[in-house]
Amino acid sequence: HCQQLELIPVIDSTNQHLLNQIGQLPSGAVCLAEYQQAGRGRRGRQWQSPFGSNLYLSTYWRLEAGVAAAMGLSLVVGVAIAETLQQVGASDVRVKWPNDIYYRDQKLAGILVEMTGKAGDAAHLVIGMGLNIAMPTVATDMIDQAWTNLSAACSPLPSRNVLAATLISRIHQTLDEYEEIGLRGFVERWNKIDNFFNRPVKLLIGDRVVEGIARGINEQGALLLETDHGITAYVGGEISLRGC
Ligand code: ATP
Ligand code: BTN
Repeated sequence: HCQQLELIPVIDSTNQHLLNQIGQLPSGAVCLAEYQQAGRGRRGRQWQSPFGSNLYLSTYWRLEAGVAAAMGLSLVVGVAIAETLQQVGASDVRVKWPNDIYYRDQKLAGILVEMTGKAGDAAHLVIGMGLNIAMPTVATDMIDQAWTNLSAACSPLPSRNVLAATLISRIHQTLDEYEEIGLRGFVERWNKIDNFFNRPVKLLIGDRVVEGIARGINEQGALLLETDHGITAYVGGEISLRGC
């Protein structure tokens, strides 16, 4: 078991901090910050990371299966986080393909998986999670979509220490499980908590928009969308999903 846990008051980004140290880190190393000056989401977007009682957490993971297995990984981490939040008392927590955690149609947490590694070699992954627990009002104008806090989903709030420890432990356990059994063992669990299952959605793919009914994910982690032409599987990180 990895012993490395770093607690930092202020950092640019916990993901960047671990990415800078790849090569020196044991698999399972964790870093937590109280404030991020340059917290980030996918494709250069910002993750609002004010001081307060939110969680900004990253972990390094060496994935023997290589970079090809990384897509499924962000889905299983979503399951780990959503199930943990339910376990500590937040019912109605859901996942949104490919990398968000939702509560009542609002974004509660985001997952960012970044990696280095050559095809054929082990992948070096940094998995980051930002969880809103009680967002100070100063930061909220900057978020241009519906979002929420764990304090709205869970009363009383669990201890932040217990929450961090439970999330870390469950994420690591889930990554071990994923390395053993692959995504197959998670498809049903993911679909069961899919925020958009059987609901009308649109996919933004570059400047193209496709509308249909979301039908969960398949065993490759692709999003299934039903339209008049039948069911199509969508893969790849350049797609954004929105409710209609
Ligand atoms: P996608 O579906 O493509 O992932 P997304 O809008 O969820 O799209 P991300 O890159 O995953 O985009 O996340 C960044 C976005 O999340 C920001 O553009 C902003 O709208 C929103 N956001 C930023 N900070 C927070 C926060 N603390 N809590 C909730 N949402 C946030
Ligand atoms: C998203 O919704 O696109 C993902 C947001 C991920 C935010 C977390 S906070 C900890 C880690 N460090 C970062 O800079 N980003 C992730």
